Amino acid sequence: MAMKIPRLLQAALVLIGVYVGFIVVFDVLLQAIIPSSLLAMYMFFVTAGVFMVFTYDEEGTRELVAPIKALVEDPSKRLIRNIVFVIVPLAAGAATYFQMQPSFEAPVELRTIHPAPPTTAKIYGKQVNLLKLENPFRELEKEDPDQFRELVDEGAAVYIRNCQFCHGDKLDGNGPYAAGLNPTPLNFQDVGTIAQLQESYLFWRISTGGPGLPKEAAPWISSMPVWQDFLTEDEIWKVILYLYDYTGHEPRSWEHE
Ligand code: HEC
Repeated sequence: MAMKIPRLLQAALVLIGVYVGFIVVFDVLLQAIIPSSLLAMYMFFVTAGVFMVFTYDEEGTRELVAPIKALVEDPSKRLIRNIVFVIVPLAAGAATYFQMQPSFEAPVELRTIHPAPPTTAKIYGKQVNLLKLENPFRELEKEDPDQFRELVDEGAAVYIRNCQFCHGDKLDGNGPYAAGLNPTPLNFQDVGTIAQLQESYLFWRISTGGPGLPKEAAPWISSMPVWQDFLTEDEIWKVILYLYDYTGHEPRSWEHE
């Protein structure tokens, strides 16, 4: 006859199997980490279910608790009993201690780096439709490359005078002030910033700066200035030309999607 697995061990194996199963299902199928509170809730119900099945009849119940009963009552198991009776309270104490211990780490501030832009925004005192807004100089790139070059150079001058302190003279977010700022100035060389965005999005972000960010971008303590207070609209469009020209990124546009 095959060796019989003790009922208590069976129950434990079922619980471990289900626990691993939940983690694997989440990881492989949903590509996500299961939240520990959710896992605790699932495991609570599974444990209750397993307990009901394993204690369905009297014989099963007796088999289930037999090892525990033996551990407590059997005189020959004295040594193990003493060890278990020391280890269990110690483990419970340690678990409680580590759970209650205060953590001195600052809480993680999750923030949306590219919050969805509003469809309309108030920029330079006008209500602007960001979906329709385009860089008025962009078409010159093909139509009049020489004039376009000049505009890019003017944009560069705007950038050096105003932006490089934070965003860096290489546009890599590493300006002299950058180390003192949190959130840090964005690195425009990175494919995760302006390469992902439309020019109208940049126009909105540059004009309205940190204070112009929508509520869902909170906690928002961005030092990005409100440039509509300091630059003209044309200067902002030109500095945008420069950002794309220098980094070699293409602005995203609706047509290409
Ligand atoms: C005082 C420092 C500072 C200066 C000066 C500054 N910025 Fe910023 N900028 C930031 C910070 C910090 C962020 C990141 C937080 C945010 O998105 O508001 C940022 C974000 C941006 C973004 C958003 C990019 C994205 O991927 O969402 C753009 C565009 C931008 N800056 C352009 C400019 C331009 C153009 C200038 C100059 C006219 C400028 N910045 C000057 C600090 C600065």
